[in-house]
Amino acid sequence: MIIRKTERLIIRNWREGDRDLFAEINNDPKVMEFFPFRRDRAAADALFDRNASTIAETGFGFFALALRDGDVPIGFCGLSRTHLAPHLPGGTIEIGWRLAVSYWRKGYATEAALALLDHGFGERNLGEIVSFAVATNARSIAVMRRIGMRPDPSRDFDHPGVPDTHQPLKRHVLYTITADEWRLGAKTPN
Ligand SMILES: CC(C)(COP(=O)(O)OP(=O)(O)OC[C@H]1O[C@@H](n2cnc3c(N)ncnc32)[C@H](O)[C@@H]1OP(=O)(O)O)[C@@H](O)C(=O)NCCC(=O)NCCS
Repeated sequence: MIIRKTERLIIRNWREGDRDLFAEINNDPKVMEFFPFRRDRAAADALFDRNASTIAETGFGFFALALRDGDVPIGFCGLSRTHLAPHLPGGTIEIGWRLAVSYWRKGYATEAALALLDHGFGERNLGEIVSFAVATNARSIAVMRRIGMRPDPSRDFDHPGVPDTHQPLKRHVLYTITADEWRLGAKTPN
């Protein structure tokens, strides 16, 4: 199923042929710089299966992101249900992205994210979408700012899933955008 098409991209459900790319990005030290662990092939395949079934069951999750030209997979992006007690209560919807390094710095993450905000506040009728990242993950935070999200420092948190052995990765900043803010300042997705 295709969630959205933009000028250069397709946001769609996962296909078997996407597994290699998914495994590659989840084991690339540069892509995973702000995560406490990498995934070997078996772990990446298990996560791939979980992503696909979450999307099938709920319509939310991390979708495949592919170039329109040739339907080449380049990474993922999504609107995901997140529950991270006590910081993010059940019902929180997170927007997120992860691209293979060769597709960075082309505006693809921003283009996909704008389409997802439009999808989330449009078809999915969401009231708020948040995003969060390690406080030093400047590239990801730049995407949040470019799509019109604003920081909400009162909701910054230490990620409970990051082990104490990885202190520099613990502090997360939270950005938010509400449906009203989106409608007032909507940036047109392609
Ligand atoms: C986070 C991530 C997706 C951001 O990628 P990115 O390439 O910086 O972001 P975009 O795809 O929006 O591209 C924006 C850049 O493309 C440039 N660009 C080039 N051509 C462009 C075009 N046609 N349109 C728009 N921007 C363009 C922009 O100027 C900007 O460059 P800059 O970094 O010099 O400012 C990527 O770094 C990543 O996958 N990181 C690893 C995973 C990760 O940390 N995920 C987030 C966890 S919270």
